[in-house]
Amino acid sequence: MKNNSWGGRVVYQIYPRSFNDSNGDGIGDINGITEKLDYLKDLGISALWLSSIYCSPMNDFGYDISDYYQIDPLFGNLNDFDNLLKQAHKHNIKILMDFVPNHTSVDHEWFKKSRSSKQNSKRDWYIWKKPKPNGGTPNNWLSQFGGSAWKFDEKTGEYYLHSFDVSQPDLNWRNPEVVEEITKMMRFWLKRGVDGFRVDVAYQLFKDPFFRDEPDNPEYKIDKNSQYNSLLHIYTVALPETLEMLKKLHDVIDEYEDRFMVCEIYTFLKEIVNLYHIVDRQSFAPFNFSFLSLPWIAQNHKRFIDEFDEMIGDNYFPTYVLGSHDFPRIVSKLGENQARTAALLQLTLRGIPFIYYGEELGMKNRDIPKEKVKDPIALHTPGTGFGRDPVRTPMQWDDSEYAGFSDAEPWLPLETEYRKRNVQTEKQNKTSFLNLYKSILKLRNTKTSLSNGKYIKYFCKNPDIFGYFRRNKLEETFILANFSKEAQETELPNSNWNILLSTGLDRVEKIEKSTLTLRPFEAVILGY
Ligand code: GLC
Ligand code: CA
Repeated sequence: MKNNSWGGRVVYQIYPRSFNDSNGDGIGDINGITEKLDYLKDLGISALWLSSIYCSPMNDFGYDISDYYQIDPLFGNLNDFDNLLKQAHKHNIKILMDFVPNHTSVDHEWFKKSRSSKQNSKRDWYIWKKPKPNGGTPNNWLSQFGGSAWKFDEKTGEYYLHSFDVSQPDLNWRNPEVVEEITKMMRFWLKRGVDGFRVDVAYQLFKDPFFRDEPDNPEYKIDKNSQYNSLLHIYTVALPETLEMLKKLHDVIDEYEDRFMVCEIYTFLKEIVNLYHIVDRQSFAPFNFSFLSLPWIAQNHKRFIDEFDEMIGDNYFPTYVLGSHDFPRIVSKLGENQARTAALLQLTLRGIPFIYYGEELGMKNRDIPKEKVKDPIALHTPGTGFGRDPVRTPMQWDDSEYAGFSDAEPWLPLETEYRKRNVQTEKQNKTSFLNLYKSILKLRNTKTSLSNGKYIKYFCKNPDIFGYFRRNKLEETFILANFSKEAQETELPNSNWNILLSTGLDRVEKIEKSTLTLRPFEAVILGY
């Protein structure tokens, strides 16, 4: 196995449209990111994942790519990108690009050719099917953005498959030319110096060759779930061919030094672990979104994390995520104090944490007035409350009119409380979210047990407290988190602990007794 530095890294996800606008058009861009590298370094992160910045008509804001080799002019150009890469590397910050292999935009040259005639050499690069004898869709598959996954194309009288927006036709991964072309594109960026990829929709590359109908989901609740969840996706998600292909794509990464690939998959523990074993490299990990769905109960977290860490084993790195450009902001979901504790856990667990921009400020969801809605999911399913604009609002740098994000009105409205929750004011407030993130990351970056120690289970007699040790040959740290809204007391194993950090940022002390009382929703890092 090649050496790699990723196990000790902390990744920060940037949604480029919303991070920092350098040229006053209300949309964040690459030079805007470069301007903020000092901020990122100071925060304590060591890698960035940039959501898609390739050429795109922006129906799905970059996840509908029309040219994989170019940067969209909204974000800048290849020179700006090379400059960002160079400056980031100077700061010892790696860069992961988004990588969208499941589909292109309808505006991509390949698709234009593919739809032009049944005889075109690119026809088979996408998934085309004849209508049913009654003219209906080829089968019952659903789009994740609502409605059928099939779109009839007048010109050639066939349907094409789109697992997402109609403007995002699925590529046909059973065609070797597609595989060849996409791996060529990966090498183009790897040679340019990018440090790897976050693979979009990684779990869905291959679809059932017989195009069978998917069965109903017996647990579907019409008022709670999106229409997509009314079916069980046994013929479109996690096919064995897909898992093999991820291994093959990872082999491309491994041709280069110290690169990394992280895959977007939504599945249960056993399948996540299975994927680690199939690819079997330290430079590979699937995302683990469990924090987004686990109920806020200490024992549920303990059960999941104990098992997850053990099943993955020391050879691979777990990942932990509290949010992304697709999910509600953690503070809005849990509440501020709970989110602080969740962050302390995320940043002190073994493995690679992914911080979504603004999480370090405690940014909240922002209700978007109807006339300002931009997300295609929200536009397709009005009135359902689905939609991702609320978590994509501009980064809050200061309390000025446009939050220091831009000189012009931003493409999405600012979060309503940005005047009190922004980088500038939080820097000055000793106990702010920002200072919590900085302090935890500082500890993580100086205490080797936190960055590379083993995860050691701990059985706490108080069921409201979840705890664990991080231990290597040199040192040990001990984490305790109170999930309840009441203060909770617990006995301590061993004596002489010091509180190195509390989520309140108001408690650094030597513990004289053999018990410790944690305040409501408080978490602490103990050490010697
Ligand atoms: C992934 C992205 C999401 C996008 C979708 C289609 O789930 O995270 O933002 O809309 O893929 O590419
Ligand atoms: Ca701009």
